[in-house]
Amino acid sequence: MEELSKEYDIHVNSQRKSDLDEWVAHYRSFAIEGQTANYIPALRNAHLSQLGITILEPGGTMIKSGDWDVPFTLQSISKVLSFIAACLGRGISYVLDRVDVEPTGDAFNSIIRLEMHKPGKPFNPMINAGAITVASLLPGDSSHKKLEFLYELFENLLGKRPTINEEVYQSEWQTSHRNRALAHYLKETNYLESEVEEALEVYLMQCSIEVTTEDIALLGLILAQDGYHPVRKEQVIPKKVAKLAKALMLTCGMYNASGKFAAFIGVPAKSGVSGGIMALVPPSARSEMPFQDGCGIGIYGPAIDEYGNSVAGSLLLKQMAQEWDLSIF
Ligand code: DON
Repeated sequence: MEELSKEYDIHVNSQRKSDLDEWVAHYRSFAIEGQTANYIPALRNAHLSQLGITILEPGGTMIKSGDWDVPFTLQSISKVLSFIAACLGRGISYVLDRVDVEPTGDAFNSIIRLEMHKPGKPFNPMINAGAITVASLLPGDSSHKKLEFLYELFENLLGKRPTINEEVYQSEWQTSHRNRALAHYLKETNYLESEVEEALEVYLMQCSIEVTTEDIALLGLILAQDGYHPVRKEQVIPKKVAKLAKALMLTCGMYNASGKFAAFIGVPAKSGVSGGIMALVPPSARSEMPFQDGCGIGIYGPAIDEYGNSVAGSLLLKQMAQEWDLSIF
């Protein structure tokens, strides 16, 4: 992102940069323990061993390592953005009347709880059922208008229009049978505000927005600062909405591995099946802490585990959390 580099008064902490280079080189090889998201044909051929990271601090320190500039699609990381957009457009209570904030312990695309728990309200906006519902709640009476609302938020936060990876979108549109099933169920139970195909179009387009680790590190940093944009120096997301989004990332962002993430890494994080992880460290009152002012972290490593989380990316984040004492607990 050329604009960010220009506006950001960049300096690099060289000790942390060399630590990070070493860890990236080490954890890259762990990708063989995972696979690319092969249920979405266009994601199958990603390069398994890629691993990249960007860390941004509010004061202008930017550390990058490995394949930090490889473009990938947001996938489920977009659920944080669309949740924020829905809260901005419809109000928090309107959104929370239609989607809960409880973790599930089930897979991200699970259908089971919709029928087991009456009245079938999606458990949280980070699982597919919740995110498809949230997509239908975005302001506007067409998929085009709903997406435009989301794109405007993206542009407001990142200073550029989002680019859609059409190949990924088409690939998922044609194969998204389980998401269609979820959407039909949600339509029948009156949680979906739009038509099924319209909600799916919005949801799958948001998943196909292309980013780099630098973009999601900036999103993470804005959330770390409770919605305050460190480059534009203004509040771009209301504090209450930012706090809600972070709580959802911590409790539900890594799906049925969210408990392990909280226990052994301890920072709010959100994954996507393309291998991205957006994480953040809130500011700390302890002056001896590294990243005392907080930071945003963007990671990309396309080999994912059975939960849908980047294998090498999770290990890298764990190493950073341990070495740099990042856990919020
Ligand atoms: O709907 C899907 O299955 C994908 N577009 C997104 C899922 C996802 O990223 C889950 N994340 N780990």
